[in-house]
Amino acid sequence: MPIKTIIEPFRIKSVEPIRRTTRDERQQLLEAAGYNLFLMPADAILIDLLTDSGTCAMSTEQWAAMMSVQAIFGFKHVIPTHQGRAAERILFGVMCKKGDVVPNNTHFDTTRANCEFVGAEAVDLPIPEALEPARLHPFKGNMDTARLAELIERVGAKRVPLVMLTVTNNSGGGQPVSMANIRAVKEICARHGIPLYIDACRYAENAYFIKLREPGYAERTPREIAQEMFSHADGCTMSAKKDGMANIGGFLCTNDDAIAQQEKDLLILTEGFPTYGGLAGRDLDAIAVGLNEALEEDYLNYRIVSTAYLGNHIAREGVPIVQPPGGHAIYIDARAFLPQVLPAEFPGVALAGELYVEGGIRSVEIGTLMFGEHATMDLVRLAIPRRVYTQSHVDYVVEVILEVWRRREQIRGLELTYQAAFLRHFSARFRPLAPSAAPQPATHQG
Ligand code: F0G
Repeated sequence: MPIKTIIEPFRIKSVEPIRRTTRDERQQLLEAAGYNLFLMPADAILIDLLTDSGTCAMSTEQWAAMMSVQAIFGFKHVIPTHQGRAAERILFGVMCKKGDVVPNNTHFDTTRANCEFVGAEAVDLPIPEALEPARLHPFKGNMDTARLAELIERVGAKRVPLVMLTVTNNSGGGQPVSMANIRAVKEICARHGIPLYIDACRYAENAYFIKLREPGYAERTPREIAQEMFSHADGCTMSAKKDGMANIGGFLCTNDDAIAQQEKDLLILTEGFPTYGGLAGRDLDAIAVGLNEALEEDYLNYRIVSTAYLGNHIAREGVPIVQPPGGHAIYIDARAFLPQVLPAEFPGVALAGELYVEGGIRSVEIGTLMFGEHATMDLVRLAIPRRVYTQSHVDYVVEVILEVWRRREQIRGLELTYQAAFLRHFSARFRPLAPSAAPQPATHQG
């Protein structure tokens, strides 16, 4: 006879004791909670039937996600979010107000936009070498510490709620930041009582560059280096879509209890509860595994070498790129590639269009379109998805770029026909300029 008893298809390995309360206690607790059961502490509940949402038991694998973050990043509070920009919005929403100034080696687009959205000024302070694409420097992502100190003196520490370091520096060519620079920036921050936050999207690649290039780190593992990087910071924002190897997810970390509380309050408004931050359990799980896989040395070596392969093969033929090759991408210097196209005619957008026409390759402009008046270079970024393309795919990309390089003199600029009020690069529209025509002013809508 088939067995009829249905059993729970799991074993319980971790339990949360239920606290029993007396009727009198419950009467007092209810009064203390203002007769609102939402405000009742969880340990005062015997059976919780408030919601079925977010109350399922998480597996050991899911809890591993949160523990991975703590093990690598080491911050006291980990607040999951659906992606990096959500962490940024909450961070700036809590820490910044109108009139504040936020220094960064270079803000990425969403970071700058979220900072400006709350009325703060986003200031980029890369080292001078970073502004010359062809110039070699082992840590071109470093922040200019003299300018940081000068900025804080000038505007006053009260107006600088935090300093950020983006590792690696995405808008500046995927270039790493050295441990010495992280330490030096932290020292300046500490002197003024300003917290240091790391935009940690590509922390594993940055750690590996430190291992390869910074004296004293050759024998350390990428994990140990990452742990040291974060030990100098007071918090971080993270997009797990990069060195978290996941398709979605992010988090916000801080060591400050009061800030964490405010961030969690804001999180509940739009993202979800602090246990999941808008992510499904499977996403948390993927992030936990991904954070660890991204630190494997074999993988990092393949990653850095294969990115450089693309850069070196086009640079060898004369294509101007940001040197040395970055961790996650190769950046073509569009101003040098198309000297006949003025920055106001969007050389990066024009070149990206040509790469598409020639071989169906999609790249992205990082320059005048993305950053407007804040753009110091016009770059075309060829970002390499992690573990996706083979060497023959990359050889094809090399061939397409060289084909466009050969006919570069015929390429013309563009003029804007539509732009949005912020993050205009996502929705802008253009038309090609007639040969030798001067650029027309853009139509402002929105
Ligand atoms: N910070 C940096 C340095 C980034 O590169 C990104 C995203 C973010 C923050 C925002 O994270 O996308 O999860 O909201 N960069 C992607 C890119 C979009 O193509 O470089 P997100």
